[in-house]
This record gives sequence, structure tokens and C-alpha cells, in this order.
Amino acid sequence: MTQDELKKLVAREALKHVVEDAVVGVGSGSTVNHFIDALAGIKGRIEGAVAASDASAERLKRHGIRVFDLNAVNELPVYVDGADEVTEHLAMIKGGGGALTREKIIAAVARKFVCICDASKLVGVLGKFPLPVEVIPMARSHVGRELRRLGGHPELRQGFTTDNGNVVIDCHGLAITDPPKLEAELNNIAGAVTNGLFARRPADLLLLGCQDGVRTLKAKA
Ligand code: 5RP
Repeated sequence: MTQDELKKLVAREALKHVVEDAVVGVGSGSTVNHFIDALAGIKGRIEGAVAASDASAERLKRHGIRVFDLNAVNELPVYVDGADEVTEHLAMIKGGGGALTREKIIAAVARKFVCICDASKLVGVLGKFPLPVEVIPMARSHVGRELRRLGGHPELRQGFTTDNGNVVIDCHGLAITDPPKLEAELNNIAGAVTNGLFARRPADLLLLGCQDGVRTLKAKA
């Protein structure tokens, strides 16, 4: 199977975790696009969705799935999203598509976070994939200096603005051995809106697309 076929496989598997008659949280990226397309097949059985990016919201609407503002939703039983890297402890690097802030907000609200990935995303140590940090534009240089102080090599994502009107700095060269600690440290940098480490609120379940089928990993209690 190709990488895209593996993404499609886990996207379809994630339908089993969608709660009937409820709103489902939908992330962003190419794996999630497959999930949205699969969700269209059961759209009569859900109330609608909240979306982590404008692109996902548009795709949901094109399928005739109602998109809610997160503020209008009291309960979010499940959130389905991809990742750029994930460990067996279900900590992740996200934000390759630049939607990390809205993704982290929806993940915080959701009761259950189901991460869907092809097998190439599973790593022993996070950090080979450059860590995205969403930054208020006037803080760009300051945040860059702080990331350098932490041992990283920051690079401004060229020609890119987030759905929130901010810039993204991709930080290379961090070997992330203690993800929750680094996530908290980065949260303290003035002007950094969100960092792409999802460790303090990891996924609850990982559906990993492998050549011999879908492997399911659960967060350790
Ligand atoms: C976007 C994300 C995506 O989940 C991540 O980039 C994975 O994308 P893909 O499914 O295309 O590999 O965090 O901000």
C-alpha cells in the first residue's frame, strides 16, 4: 500500500470512534481530508462537526456536513486528527499544515483524541520533524532568539499566514527527550501563541496504518 492508501485506511477505521448524534471534532491535513470524505458517508448519523482549519471547514461543508463554532458546542466526545510525528506514549508534533493552535484548542475540549497516521509517523524521539511554533508577527525575532537559546535552529515559514493571522516558525534540531517539559517552556515565551508539541494533552488512541492493517495503540494510564 502507498502512504496515501495507508492514510485512507486509518481514516476509514476512525469512523468506528465517531459518536452517533453528536458533534465530532475534525483536525486538518491530508489524512484528515480522507476522514472527512469517509465521514460524508455517515453524515446522517452525526449532528455535525467543529473544524480545526478553514480548509477542513470548507471540505466538510462541501460534503453537506454542518460546521459548528466551537463556542456553540457544549460537548465534544471525539476529536480525530493526524500528526507529523507520534511516539508510543502518544505525544505528538503537529502543525505541519499550520493549524496547530485551533487543533490544540479542540483537543483540549474533546473527551477523546483519536490520532490517525500512517506508520512513517511513529518515532522513538520527537524532533526530527521541525517543531512548528505559531507566533504573533511582532514577536518573530524575539521568539527566534528564545528558540536558539533552547538549542534549536528557527526558520520562518516563508509566505505562510495562519488562519489566525500569525506567522509560523519551524524549529529544527531539537531532540525532544522530555516533551511535556519543553511544551511548557515554549508556552512561556512571550509572543508564542502555540507550539506544536501535543504532550500535556496527548492522544488517547493512535490508529496507525501499517502494511498488514491498522495497529491500535492506547495511551498508558
Ligand atoms: C496540521 C497537522 C496535521 O495533522 C499534520 O501536519 C499531519 O498532516 P498529514 O495528515 O497531511 O500528514 O498537524 O497542522
